[in-house]
Amino acid sequence: SALRASFATKAQKESRNQHQLQPQASYKVAVLGAAGGIGQPLALLIKMSPLVSDLHLYDIANVKGVAADISHCNTPSQVRDFTGASELGDCLKGVNVVVIPAGVPRKPGTTRDDLFNINAGIVRDLVSAVADNCPGAFIHIISNPVNSTVPIAAEILKQKGVYDPKKLFGVTTLDVVRANTFVAQRKNLKLIDVDVPVVGGHAGITILPLLSKTRPSASFTDEEIEELTVRIQNAGTEVVEAKAGAGSATLSMAYAAARFVESSLRALDGDGDVYECAYVQSDLTELPFFASRVKLGKKGVEALIPSDLQGLTEYEQKALEALKPELKSSIERGVAFAQKQT
Ligand code: NAD
Ligand code: LMR
Repeated sequence: SALRASFATKAQKESRNQHQLQPQASYKVAVLGAAGGIGQPLALLIKMSPLVSDLHLYDIANVKGVAADISHCNTPSQVRDFTGASELGDCLKGVNVVVIPAGVPRKPGTTRDDLFNINAGIVRDLVSAVADNCPGAFIHIISNPVNSTVPIAAEILKQKGVYDPKKLFGVTTLDVVRANTFVAQRKNLKLIDVDVPVVGGHAGITILPLLSKTRPSASFTDEEIEELTVRIQNAGTEVVEAKAGAGSATLSMAYAAARFVESSLRALDGDGDVYECAYVQSDLTELPFFASRVKLGKKGVEALIPSDLQGLTEYEQKALEALKPELKSSIERGVAFAQKQT
């Protein structure tokens, strides 16, 4: 509805304003990696938010044109461009939400883990600048492998003495978006109503859709559960293969990331009813990071939602146990990388 509001014509807005107050645009959002495949459509979708007053677009190249282009949309936010490390500090000052889609994407035949060597250093450097310039911001990490880049970010923030676990998020919204789409299609449900929690992490078998917790409740045959779970787990690869070397999901990812930004802004704005799945520091399992539904508030994660992990089916319980070793080693790889930097 917030996005719909920004498409309204002046006449529509004026007639509506006779009945209600104009939403206030007051939050600053930065996108790091804004000239990329995700960054560009994500910046456009954030430009449509009535809650955003300033949109800061940062990349190492090609961001001037993206910012000039997007800035012509007649929505409230002021758009500014920042290029290269010397302008990163200015980009981040006073920002409330930082979204990080910077880094290389997959090609067919590779895993998200194969991106570690390049993306780990990119996330380290960007998060270090966030720590120096806007340590109180919500940080949304999109760069893969998310299972490792979030622990890297946490370690860097700890080294800088500004780690707030409630404000660091690995963005797993796309897994939920996919699960909702595929389940609605398979079960012929009204898409707008369907909500499937997806827990664990964001790679292969660490992505665990909890189909038994689908709302509104739906029943699945064993074959449907297997087919849907595998499709949701491999959906990123489905896109990588379809793009045949031209990258991974960008448009659906931008849509999902924009939803997570909008949810964060609503939470910052005092909405007391904001829930999203995200990969965060967690005590729901023995692993230090775990994706689950979380309640978002003004200070970030207000609560984890443990009930999703209770009363799992045998299939889900087995899948949960099976994902833990892989997720654990991805977390450890990230932590080891960050600790080597000191
Ligand atoms: P892309 O190559 O199209 O864009 C990446 C952008 O990052 C480029 O514009 C590049 O210049 C920029 N960049 C590189 N180094 C940088 C640095 N040091 N500082 C700032 N910007 C820098 O890639 P993409 O398709 O947009 O994907 C980006 C990342 O998102 C990849 O790692 C991909 O695997 C990941 N991804 C995650 C999810 C998810 O669900 N979390 C979904 C899709 C993609
Ligand atoms: C996705 O899930 O689409 C992303 O993580 C990109 C990828 O490499 O699959």
